[in-house]
Amino acid sequence: MTDLTSRPPILRIEELRYSAANTLIFNGLNLNVHQGESVALCGPSGTGKTTLLTCILGLTRPDGGCVLVAGEDVTRLSKRRMAMHRRKHVGMVFQFGELLPELSPVENVALAALLAGQDRGSAYDSAKVLLDELGVPHGQTPTAYLSGGERQRTAVARALITDPPLILADEPTGALDQQSRDSVASVLFDLPRRRGCALVVVTHDGSVARRANRRLDLVAGRLAGAEA
Ligand SMILES: Nc1ncnc2c1ncn2[C@@H]1O[C@H](COP(=O)(O)OP(=O)(O)OP(=O)(O)O)[C@@H](O)[C@H]1O
Ligand SMILES: [Mg+2]
Repeated sequence: MTDLTSRPPILRIEELRYSAANTLIFNGLNLNVHQGESVALCGPSGTGKTTLLTCILGLTRPDGGCVLVAGEDVTRLSKRRMAMHRRKHVGMVFQFGELLPELSPVENVALAALLAGQDRGSAYDSAKVLLDELGVPHGQTPTAYLSGGERQRTAVARALITDPPLILADEPTGALDQQSRDSVASVLFDLPRRRGCALVVVTHDGSVARRANRRLDLVAGRLAGAEA
């Protein structure tokens, strides 16, 4: 197996500090994630897992430290440059998919590509190819009528359509039954191997976390576990 850590990390967080509502959330947190690897982020409710993802997305400005995504410190980018940087480098999968229910799966996925500047024809073609690959039927049916698992796989396709080197997922299987959970988890954890991207998954589910290369627990504002 190639040494994943021999390349520079796609995500590097150094000495992250952040307090909200007089509560210390990050207290000098460090994290390195390399392309081709998967990391499960675990920890009790309210410890700051979602907040950490929002820092990586550049939506929350920490009080100190840096968050390097593809070598760029996103804590120092303007909102506009951050949005452009994010579109190019990060794909996000939310717990409930956060898709537009009245649009078909193809439209939902193609929309992300159109927003990233792809032309209409290639956006729709790549959306269909991705949905096929992930086993989502793609007729004209509005996304609202799909099963939970199909919706979540559509959300994965939407995160992948721009081929980002970093995929983030916040409890992507939290709302699914066991069978859908296993199928969505398989799709997600196959990504680093198949596409060479990095994957960071927040999960409360031990069986999902066990699929990751590394499991880190957010405890007292830092990540505990093996740090590369
Ligand atoms: N902008 C904010 N203003 C005030 N409090 C905030 C803000 N952002 C986060 N918090 C608080 O920070 C803590 C961490 O929240 P966060 O949503 O990141 O937790 P979590 O680990 O994702 O929890 P869960 O597992 O329940 O999803 C919570 O106590 C939350 O209320
Ligand atoms: Mg959360």
